[in-house]
Amino acid sequence: MIIAANWKMNPDLETAGMLASRLAGISFGNVKRVLFAPHPYIIPMSIRLAQSDITLGGQDCHTAESGAHTGDVSALMLRDSGATMVLVGHSERRSDHGEDDALIMAKANAALAHNLDVMICVGETRNDREAGNAESVVLAQLQGSIPKAMDPARLIVAYEPVWAIGTGLVPSSEDIAAMHENISSWLSSAFPNRGDTHIPVLYGGSVKPGNAAEILSLPAVDGALVGGASLDADGFEAICAAA
Ligand code: G3P
Repeated sequence: MIIAANWKMNPDLETAGMLASRLAGISFGNVKRVLFAPHPYIIPMSIRLAQSDITLGGQDCHTAESGAHTGDVSALMLRDSGATMVLVGHSERRSDHGEDDALIMAKANAALAHNLDVMICVGETRNDREAGNAESVVLAQLQGSIPKAMDPARLIVAYEPVWAIGTGLVPSSEDIAAMHENISSWLSSAFPNRGDTHIPVLYGGSVKPGNAAEILSLPAVDGALVGGASLDADGFEAICAAA
């Protein structure tokens, strides 16, 4: 089971330090924990988490290794700063920065070239779901954004319905399970030679201490990507405990 915290553009540095110290101080057997920190905090968090088994990741990277890209951060920089993973394709990047599947695939390739594991986010909008297109939209995102030649051991998929992010709304258990089964079977056909390698599929979107146990018990749900609740140490600890 993987429980990942996505702090997004939060919190201040002092609070980040406190959260990281709390995270480092707890351990839940086989629950793998991941922290996606804002870029300026990668180095201080890598120092704080040095003695822990928490995986540190960036929230985005550029496709290029270096160059005239003001405000951007390369996969190489993330790696040099202490990250070993990067999140790409989050719906907030897709909507706020117009990122499409091709760009997300290029970012994933850049990350892989610098030895970062990659968590790729997919998810339908409310309109997609109401129109009955949730599955086709998500499968198209998988097809367009996951590099087929990549080592499947470096891949994690996060299914985050856009309409569930930060809203308190969550799909029914049946809908989550059905989408995760679809994603898993797509991954099986995309990586036919993956052998024993299991590609984890996480659920994200309003995961809270109160619903985590039910969501995490669903078939083909290998963990959670947590936004708002990861900014509360007690809440995040409760989600890890539920896993
Ligand atoms: O990446 C995590 C995310 O988008 C979910 O956010 O606040 O609904 O848990 P939240």
